[in-house]
Formats: sequence, C-alpha cells, structure tokens
Amino acid sequence: MSYQSVTLVTDGGIATLTVNRPDKLNALNAGTMAELSSAIDEVRARDDIGGLIVTGAGRAFVAGADISELANATAVSARTLALEGQRIFRRFETSPKPVIAAVNGFALGGGCELALACHIRIASEQAKFGQPEVKLGTSPGYGGTQRLARLVGKGRALQLILTGETIDAAEAYRIGLVNRVVAADSLIESATGLLRQILANGPLAIAACIEAVELGLDMSLEGGLALEATHFGLLAATSDMKEGTKAFLEKRAAEFKRK
Ligand code: COA
Repeated sequence: MSYQSVTLVTDGGIATLTVNRPDKLNALNAGTMAELSSAIDEVRARDDIGGLIVTGAGRAFVAGADISELANATAVSARTLALEGQRIFRRFETSPKPVIAAVNGFALGGGCELALACHIRIASEQAKFGQPEVKLGTSPGYGGTQRLARLVGKGRALQLILTGETIDAAEAYRIGLVNRVVAADSLIESATGLLRQILANGPLAIAACIEAVELGLDMSLEGGLALEATHFGLLAATSDMKEGTKAFLEKRAAEFKRK
C-alpha cells in the first residue's frame, strides 16, 4: 500500500512507521490519521512483519492533532474525531505484534497519546512530552487522560494534563513515561535491538503476554488471573512451547554433562 503522510518500511521482520509531515511537525490531520489506521492494519495483517517501530520525521515525533483542523470543529464533529482517533490508537495498543515508540522529538498532545498507545517507549535525549490541550481550551481526546494516568499514576498525570507543561526526556524517564532514554543518533538502533530481543521469543507467547497485560489492567485481579491461566494452558498446546521448553532442557543437560 502507498502512503503520503507516513512511510512504512520493512526490514528483516521489523516494520518502521514514520509520520512524515516534518514541515508541520508531523501534526495529525485527517489524512495522516487515516493513513495511520491503514498502516497499523497492514502491519497486523502481514505475515512478514513481526513487530513495529513508530517514529517521526525531522525534529518532532508528533506535535499533536492538527490545530488548523480543530479550529472549526463542532461539538458533534469533535466528539466523532476523538472517537475515531481513540479507535485508531487502540489498534496499536491491541496489536498482537509488539509496538515500540521511538520518540525522536516533540511528542505533544496526540503525539504523546500515540506514544502512550504503543507497548514500549524509547526516547531520544531531545524528546519532549506534554499534553498541552488545556492551553487551547480543550482536553486530550485520543486517550491521554486514560493512558497517562494508568502509566504514571493519577497525580503525575493530572499535573501534566492540568498545567499543559512540557517535560524533557529525563523527566519522562523519571516518572515512568518512557522505558529508556538514548542519544538521538542511536534511537532507531536501540528500538530495533529491543524489538529483536522480543522477537527472538515465541510469537504466540508474545501475543498472549501483550493481551493479558493490556486487558488485565482493566479487569479484576481474579478475571486477569483466569485469563493468564487460560493463555498458559493454550500455549502449552503450541509447538512454540514444546520446542522452547525442550531446547531449554537439552541445553541444561548439555551444560550438566560438561561440568
Ligand atoms: N497542528 C498544526 N500545525 C502545527 C502543530 C499542530 N499541532 N504543531 C506545529 N505545527 C506547525 C506550525 O504551525 C508551523 O507551521 P508553519 O511553518 O506553516 O507556520 C510548523 O509546524 C513548525 O512549528 P513552529 O511552531 O514554528 O515550531 P517551534 O519550534 O517554534 O515550536 C512547538 C514547536 C511544538 C512548541 C509548537 O509548534 C507548538 O506548540 N505546537 C502545538 C503543540 C500543541 O498544542 N499540540 C496539541 C494540539 S491538540
């Protein structure tokens, strides 16, 4: 599939989705959102893709929803926009294939929300995070109030959302918003390395773990534990688990013989 405002490049089972409107700091207009939707569907459907890196072209990851399109929104159209954005970002979050945000620069508003919808976030030292919507007289609309609070806790999320302040990568790391901070020139290498480490493991097990964590966070502990046990049981019936445990035991036996 061909895209205008994003690029999707695949190399050795890893796809890199780059939001590519650098002159507008990759702001999410309607066309870009539609392409993000198609791109994540493509990633989920293609058998040759095991995992995804999401990043931005130029000096921004994504500087938010396109403000020029928000100016004339009505109550009904803005609600529809938020629901559609939430649906699209949820496709990233519920992807059975791991999704890593490689945050290269500004991740503001919808940009921060896109990063939050990814499973893991790696930030360049130059990255900046924030939910500045209140400064425009509005609120986050693509999941920021929900995912940020779940990730960094209610107090920290409310401070960011209510002040609209921007924080740097070091502060984002300190509060648990990102998993790791790296030099700008090793951002993609770091994300690729982490993704390769994940993809070395069984794909069914990876998908089950993502689903259990994503769904489990919003379930009762009892419901989450039941889901986990069901996954554990189902995985035992797969060749991945049979081969994985066999290989482990054979390696241990060989080590034992050497001693
Ligand atoms: N929507 C639409 N256009 C945006 C945008 C957005 N969210 N963020 C940046 N742009 C555009 C600017 O209008 C400008 O376009 P122009 O050159 O055609 O005028 C271009 O991107 C560069 O932005 P600029 O503001 O000149 O860069 P800067 O380095 O001075 O400032 C920011 C960078 C990120 C601090 C600033 O662009 C900003 O505050 N953007 C809005 C962030 C925001 O509120 N996002 C949430 C939206 S709900």
